[in-house]
Amino acid sequence: MKFNEPATTNPIDQLKVVGQPVNRVDGPLKTTGTAPYAMDRHDVVPNQAHGYILGSSIPKGRIVSMDLAAAKAAPGVIAIVTAQNAGKINKGNFNTAMLLGGPRIEHYHQAVALVVAETFEQARDAAHLVRVRYERDKGVFDLHEVKNKAAAPKGEAAETKVGNFTGAFASSAVRHDAEYATAHESHSMMEPHASIAAWDGDALTLWTSNQMIAWNVGDLAKTLGIPKSKVRVISPYIGGGFGSKLFLRADALMAALGARAARRPVKVTLQRALIPNNTTHRSATFQRIRIGATREGKITAIAHDSASGNLEKGSPENAATQTRSLYAGEHRMTSNRVAGMDLPEANAMRAPGEAPGMAALEIAMDEMAEKLGMDPVQFRILNDTQVVPDNPEKPDATDPQGKKPKTAHVPHPPFSKRQFIQCLQTGAQRFGWDKRSAQPGKQRDGRWLVGMGMAAAFRDNMLTKSAARVRLDRRGILTVETDMTDIGTGSYTILAQTASEMMGIPLEKVKVRLGDSSFPASCGSGGQWGGNNSAAGVYAACIKLREAIAAKAGFDPARAIFADGLVRAGERSLPLAEAVGERELVAEDFIEYGDIDKRFQQSTFGAHFVEVAVDAATCEVRIRRMLAVCAAGRILNPKTARSQVIGAMTMGAGAALMEELAVDKRLGYFVNHDLAGYEVPVHADIPHQEVIFLDETDPMSSPMKAKGIAELGICGVAAAIANAVYNATGVRVREYPITLDKLI
Ligand code: MOS
Repeated sequence: MKFNEPATTNPIDQLKVVGQPVNRVDGPLKTTGTAPYAMDRHDVVPNQAHGYILGSSIPKGRIVSMDLAAAKAAPGVIAIVTAQNAGKINKGNFNTAMLLGGPRIEHYHQAVALVVAETFEQARDAAHLVRVRYERDKGVFDLHEVKNKAAAPKGEAAETKVGNFTGAFASSAVRHDAEYATAHESHSMMEPHASIAAWDGDALTLWTSNQMIAWNVGDLAKTLGIPKSKVRVISPYIGGGFGSKLFLRADALMAALGARAARRPVKVTLQRALIPNNTTHRSATFQRIRIGATREGKITAIAHDSASGNLEKGSPENAATQTRSLYAGEHRMTSNRVAGMDLPEANAMRAPGEAPGMAALEIAMDEMAEKLGMDPVQFRILNDTQVVPDNPEKPDATDPQGKKPKTAHVPHPPFSKRQFIQCLQTGAQRFGWDKRSAQPGKQRDGRWLVGMGMAAAFRDNMLTKSAARVRLDRRGILTVETDMTDIGTGSYTILAQTASEMMGIPLEKVKVRLGDSSFPASCGSGGQWGGNNSAAGVYAACIKLREAIAAKAGFDPARAIFADGLVRAGERSLPLAEAVGERELVAEDFIEYGDIDKRFQQSTFGAHFVEVAVDAATCEVRIRRMLAVCAAGRILNPKTARSQVIGAMTMGAGAALMEELAVDKRLGYFVNHDLAGYEVPVHADIPHQEVIFLDETDPMSSPMKAKGIAELGICGVAAAIANAVYNATGVRVREYPITLDKLI
């Protein structure tokens, strides 16, 4: 089904099941600990051996020699895989560094060997007997040192210019020019990476934990040099991703190589301590923001330049991108630059670009409002725009060759829906914003300095192709099959709701099967595109099934009504199970989009409000309450959506106050590589959260009229906290995380 026009009335609009706060259908499996995660799958294939990854102990250089003799002779050892004996390995489509290093070493903890043994402990013991001699090269590990050498990558719209920023800024009545810094961050999902690989002849089956099944199949096939048809990836339950599991990682490739070498199934888990350096992280950024405005507060010039670090050929953190669309202003400039470094590979982490970008931009907006003597909510309202003020022509994101898109470039497309002002106003009212003192450092509660802060939330909504299959059997059970993943987000639940609504059958009669590459390829889970697109894929398949059922029953498909387990036309009705006939009825389809997202800018909006208390003596920061107001199209399930938003707000609190991968600048690695050293918020850090969804449908986003929500919730949170800390103390911190040493 091609979706290219605003959707008119459709069966989803009944909202009998969709839009309801249905409990997670996989909830009992999760809460009883019986959901089968990748590393728990002892049952799927017998005779599993265990692999242990040895990571490089240098960040850059080469392996001079490897002595495997002692490891090979250790008890239980079956095989040892290294770059020397693994055969030809190609780089995947998405990896910047090789997943198995050697002789060249590209980053610290890059895998250099996999030891396969009968037990995990034997594999680990033997791995420590592998003797590796390295020759170390000099490396670049300090972003601050190289940020001015950062450059915009070629072939991407990394830089934009509209009008004459420099002139307009220089002649603006009120100006702000400051630099902000965000930290290197680690996804820190609950479930570490894990894979079990089994070969049957030349065919590979991989049980793993991955957000994007089809990408993973493609990358495994490419890396191993085998056809995609010979790879099956299974990942039905995932204990969090946040972008860490978008791509093929070392656990999966090494399990496949280990199983080939050992001639039996091999399980590989990445121990927590390997994750920050072996896998990916979000790069730190330095962001210079300049805003010029009239005395009345109208932005006339705005520039946002971001520098991040990555391995050579790695992408920048696109922290400046939202500044192209969020606020009005005639003269503008943005750049997303990247400096070559030798830290581990930087890549997507929840709301890549916007999360650190909004963390900086929304402090700058607060500072500008103060300079103007304006309320920060009013300043944002005054600079709202209903069209994209800056829209560079860019290669089609879905075209890996980077060729010109076939569709025409629309210079200033309108937003499909933009209720940004409503978010700001609703939030201000609900939070009691009028009680905030405009002057910082004025509210006191015993030893606590109390302050309020706010920030905008903004994140794009991406439309991507997504397929599904639905089967209706003679008992009236509908089974949905798609390779969509549920990374803790609620995919099982919203897809069940979608099918239930479409077919007019109770939720209990819908079974959803996900995360298997033998099912039709979905959009996967990433970039907050999963919910809307995967549900729209199920919608498309259900439309086909409805047509098939109507045809079997002899009804006009356009007039058939599906409700209460029946298909009805006029006076006649038939139980769905009977319409099926002898065998099951199967329908498969996909949703795909034309250029609707070029003609209409699709974005999601919100506003964050935070109250903090700062200990006047120790400068310890405590969050007291948080409110998010979101406008993100139709909310398919307010309960799962709320969970996504409060989780994202929590992650934003981490970014604001505690999260930072600390770099050892001499040895070139992230030092704090576990959850003791890398601090994330706990319940005690987050006492009160409220989420309001504006009543919204977006007919341009898909037949579901929904948009992404899971990443919107993090965008702006850190700045709202930073602004609240400023309001409490009068100390402006422009460098995250805002630890107490920066306030003293
Ligand atoms: Mo998200 S960082 O695209 O999983």
